[in-house]
Amino acid sequence: MSAVSQPVTAVITGASSGIGEAVAHRLAREPGARLVLVARREDRLRQLAESLSVPTTYIAADLTDDDAPARVVKHVGGHCERLTLLVNNAGASWRATFADGGYANVRRTMELNFDAVVRLTEALLPLLRESAPSAIVNVASTAGRVARPGAGAYSASKFALAGWTDSLYAEERAHGVHVGLVLPGFIATEGFPAAELTSRRLTRRAVSTPERAAEAILDAGLRGRAERYVPRPYALIGVARLLVPGLMRRLASGGAGAALTTKTGADLAERDGKTGPS
Ligand SMILES: NC(=O)c1ccc[n+]([C@@H]2O[C@H](COP(=O)([O-])OP(=O)(O)OC[C@H]3O[C@@H](n4cnc5c(N)ncnc54)[C@H](OP(=O)(O)O)[C@@H]3O)[C@@H](O)[C@H]2O)c1
Repeated sequence: MSAVSQPVTAVITGASSGIGEAVAHRLAREPGARLVLVARREDRLRQLAESLSVPTTYIAADLTDDDAPARVVKHVGGHCERLTLLVNNAGASWRATFADGGYANVRRTMELNFDAVVRLTEALLPLLRESAPSAIVNVASTAGRVARPGAGAYSASKFALAGWTDSLYAEERAHGVHVGLVLPGFIATEGFPAAELTSRRLTRRAVSTPERAAEAILDAGLRGRAERYVPRPYALIGVARLLVPGLMRRLASGGAGAALTTKTGADLAERDGKTGPS
């Protein structure tokens, strides 16, 4: 059953690379789709918009800026009559233990992965309600169900996003706005290259593709799924955290936790003196 009135008009954040870019390509195959792409790198957004065969506009914005939600609302109002899908996908992770990264790392991670999602959703919710049946998809992470060392700030932001999404799901049902949660595992992208895992034969198969994540986002956004892990077997991690928490803690504190904490694009960008995960 479709959660969204067809044809779909969608805002996709974080569309300049990785999962968001794959979502744009996938949604462009839906008949009559119209897309609005959001991210900081304008050149990437322009190239992507020009490559798609459906009406597509873009807005270059840092979603942590105070005026970003208002700018997106103005852009959408000027280009679209309605909005039937919001994909809150933009996000990043800077790896650091709490002792090293401190509150500063927690704050910048929360600002992007949680606060910016809440602020943009607040700004677009009236239009989503007016356009109902419509949908919101929040892209969290399996790290929003289970935490590893060196990724506490990221987990905090994604646990928060998962909890808030469940509440919003229940609140918005009566208004015809479906709210879906997608929890990716390892997906090889610029922001999360997972090079440590793809370089080892034993762990290579644990890493999936942005295209599969995009399909999960369509399941949650267009097909009314409330929650989707991708790859699907990662759902077992959430179950294990509830059923055998002691075992999961031991694994996270031992070699498995360290082996699965991969370097991110944001780490590499920071090392190279760039601001974003490019
Ligand atoms: N790949 C994985 O293994 C994995 C696993 C679990 C969850 N996720 C989640 O999936 C989502 C997409 O990640 P990805 O893997 O596709 O990584 P990615 O390729 O680095 O994409 C991240 C996107 O977010 C945008 N972005 C970053 N900071 C932004 C800001 N301040 N304002 C606006 N846009 C911003 C980036 O564009 P600009 O740099 O152009 O702004 C980019 O388009 C994230 O929320 C991530 O946490 C990924």
